[in-house]
Amino acid sequence: LKHLLSGADLDAATATLILDTAAEMATVAGREVKKLPALRGRTVVNLFYEDSTRTRISFEAAAKRLSADVINFSAKGSSVSKGESLKDTALTLQAMGADAVVIRHPASGAPHRLANWVEGSVLNAGDGTHEHPTQALLDAYTMRARLGRIAGLSVAVVGDVLHSRVARSNVLLLATLGAKVTLVGPPTLIPVDIGAALAPGTEVSYDLDAVLPTSDVVMMLRVQRERMADSYFPSAREYARRYGLDGPRMARLPDHAIVMHPGPMNRGMEIAPEVADSPRSTIVEQVANGVSVRMAVLYLLLGGMH
Ligand code: CP
Repeated sequence: LKHLLSGADLDAATATLILDTAAEMATVAGREVKKLPALRGRTVVNLFYEDSTRTRISFEAAAKRLSADVINFSAKGSSVSKGESLKDTALTLQAMGADAVVIRHPASGAPHRLANWVEGSVLNAGDGTHEHPTQALLDAYTMRARLGRIAGLSVAVVGDVLHSRVARSNVLLLATLGAKVTLVGPPTLIPVDIGAALAPGTEVSYDLDAVLPTSDVVMMLRVQRERMADSYFPSAREYARRYGLDGPRMARLPDHAIVMHPGPMNRGMEIAPEVADSPRSTIVEQVANGVSVRMAVLYLLLGGMH
């Protein structure tokens, strides 16, 4: 594996190797061991054309804990504002000797194009409404850490599926790892046949209350108003009433079930504060696990998983 562009790039053995490696990296990410020399002399470029808190910071932390040199590039304040193209920016990074480029971009498919232009590895850190594969890996890691397995789990992915790169990558990876995914949300936000098109066996439901009692994991998605025409979204109050996870609704889950959210959250819309801050919530663990998982991905791609 040279690039990580999609959840579909990972077969079960490769995904499991990444999760196992991440578990070893957790001792470093948890600061028991401060730094590993694995990527000394290698250069990782973080190329962010779209805002990010968690992904950008955790890729930077991951690369630094592996002793790589890190260059942070944000489109704001760069020559992108003067009209420089992605290709010319990529060639500039190539000339600076990037061994890996981590890219977030508002256009679906931008990382795939970049992979044609640079010699190093390309890691998709979220492209438009398309994919976010390292988020799916850290979500899988979190499920395995909390529930002991992924195969056989029933995972409800709830909300704005239409605009969610997190949902797409999770459906692909969870199917590969043997979980059963049900996409839940209003019909306007669940494209017809999206589940089956991504992975056979993926189900769709428009009734959250009916799905919760048999779910091991409920993954709430951010409502992405910035990507949405008004027609998709009649009112925040109505959305929260039908598809928001509040305390009474959370009580419908089995005792062992966990609640996930990739962040950033709209507290009070798709998830109530009492749920986000409850012991069932893995939201903060997901962020911590993101560093270990991104260390594992950088280590395996740059250190030689070919
Ligand atoms: N989950 C996630 O991708 O968060 P950021 O947009 O803050 O990176």
